Amino acid sequence: MTDIRELLLSRIRDVADYPEPGVMFKDITPLLADPGAFTALTDELARIAERHAATKIVGLEARGFILGAPVAVRAGLGFIPVRKAGKLPGATLRQSYDLEYGSAEIEVHAEDLSAGDRVLVVDDVLATGGTAEASLQLIRRAGAEVAGVAVLMELAFLGGRARLEPALEGAPLEAL
Ligand code: PRP
Repeated sequence: MTDIRELLLSRIRDVADYPEPGVMFKDITPLLADPGAFTALTDELARIAERHAATKIVGLEARGFILGAPVAVRAGLGFIPVRKAGKLPGATLRQSYDLEYGSAEIEVHAEDLSAGDRVLVVDDVLATGGTAEASLQLIRRAGAEVAGVAVLMELAFLGGRARLEPALEGAPLEAL
């Protein structure tokens, strides 16, 4: 685990003052461009899916799609996109959540999740936890069970883990 952590950390680029002054952006594109690191990440997340007996992978737009889709393939599970509102063509469940200023909405196709599913949510970053929290609410509203949340990075200073804790209802949050 220590080795993979060092490998992954070495492939994440800090970009100062992006997208606005004072923000240190964590750029994962060097990791995605390195097949060894991307494969190691995919394998590790697939092991988490197996360990928690997930039956489906939910990826959160947009970087959660890039990480979650190969995990689903590797683990032999279906992949379900949770999108920003207005992007999915079929009947959806929609969930709003609070941002620092204002609010946002995400959606999932209602037919993609149902009772009996155990869902692992995959994303690149847990920041304030608002997006992940809303995704867990969507999963439960669809009647499915939460197997856990797995992220590449947790920005601990933003307190996302504490915000997410009640919505996890005892399911694990794994941050690599
Ligand atoms: C980022 C990140 C997570 C979310 C984390 O996505 O990829 O999905 O924010 O933030 P939170 O924990 O405070 O909710 P973003 O909304 O920037 O979308 P993108 O991946 O489409 O750029």
